[in-house]
Amino acid sequence: MLRYLTAGESHGQALMGILEGLPSGISLRSQYLQQHMRRRKLGYGRGNRQKIEDDHVDILCGVRHGKTLGAPIGLLIHNKDWKNWQQIMAVDPVPGPVKRQVGVPRPGHADLVGGIKYDHADMRNVLERSSARETAMRVALGTIARRFLEELGIHIASRVTQIGAVADPTPLNVPIDQLNAAVDERPLRCLGTEAETAMIAAIDEARTTGNTLGGIFEVYAVGVPVALGSYSQWDRRLEGALGEAFLSMNAIKGVELGIGFEAGRVFGSEAHDEMAPGDSPLQVRYLSNRAGGITGGMSTGQPIVMRAAMKPIATLMRPLDSVNAHTGEAAKAHIERSDTCAVPAAAVICEALMALVLAEAILDKFGADSMRELKPRIKAWVKKTRPTGEA
Ligand SMILES: Cc1cc2nc3c(=O)[nH]c(=O)nc-3n(C[C@H](O)[C@H](O)[C@H](O)COP(=O)(O)O)c2cc1C
Repeated sequence: MLRYLTAGESHGQALMGILEGLPSGISLRSQYLQQHMRRRKLGYGRGNRQKIEDDHVDILCGVRHGKTLGAPIGLLIHNKDWKNWQQIMAVDPVPGPVKRQVGVPRPGHADLVGGIKYDHADMRNVLERSSARETAMRVALGTIARRFLEELGIHIASRVTQIGAVADPTPLNVPIDQLNAAVDERPLRCLGTEAETAMIAAIDEARTTGNTLGGIFEVYAVGVPVALGSYSQWDRRLEGALGEAFLSMNAIKGVELGIGFEAGRVFGSEAHDEMAPGDSPLQVRYLSNRAGGITGGMSTGQPIVMRAAMKPIATLMRPLDSVNAHTGEAAKAHIERSDTCAVPAAAVICEALMALVLAEAILDKFGADSMRELKPRIKAWVKKTRPTGEA
């Protein structure tokens, strides 16, 4: 029902995106998009590329006078860096040897297998599209989904909880709909200031030693209606769609819902969410939210809580051992301008992906062509089913 596509190379002219299936009548301003694009650029440990790009999004179609039309929405982000790559990334053949070819794959990146798969001797052809630059467009598309959800009272936020070996033990002590305001201006989007200082030191150490770092972050959604998704078919399970979305993101290697892997280590009495009577027989009061807001493939109406692990950046300034793909000889991996750590950005990107999944699930359950049609349906459903006294 809701579908999207992106196109574009990291140093190509532009990134393109199309989002189709959102109803008409969602209020949307260019300024709102820009605000969220900026959030993806932030975070201590990022490389120089972020200083070059402004990630300005042109809304080309599908929005008129501040409202979505119900038509496909087309977006464009110009790569400012393209001016330095016009010859290297030219559409038409260029005279002379092509500069900045990639012949030695980076361990942990798509270079080698991508080159084998698409028969590219120059792995620049792989690097350009497998780069996380593409996620700028996914954030733009997801931000429109976020705007849609906000009009329905659903808010998405995230925070970083670990960088390398340094964990932030701070519990979530801010309401989810105020969390981004609390962490967005912090260097690592972290709630614990002491832990954040130690994380910054770890990133500095990685940078000075030519190394990189990954980390862990949490993404939350609050205000989610009961019973999005379904138990009735494998591909309608809500956590399946969220897991796929998160794992579709570059460098995300682990995903948890609620207490996640901990559920495999404890007794049932410590894993499940007990219920107590609420306002009506169907509106129970959950005494905890260990399930992370989804049970049996469906939202429970409690906040959705997901956690994801991002591996360290694959391009190291002190490059790892690799093999020259042309000669077969041992060689040091290719070096490309890179981030040292991009975990705060990854959290923001996963917010956008969660927004796209939840928007799709809303439309699947309540299906409507306009906001005027949709809002009363959701309102009536929420009134009937919202759990009371959310944990
Ligand atoms: C926000 C973000 C920024 C990234 N920046 C870089 C980077 O500068 N250099 C790099 O080698 N990898 C970077 N990555 C990771 C690679 O895109 C990723 O490791 C690569 O596409 C291989 O895919 P895989 O890790 O999912 O297997 C970044 C990932 C994200 C999410």
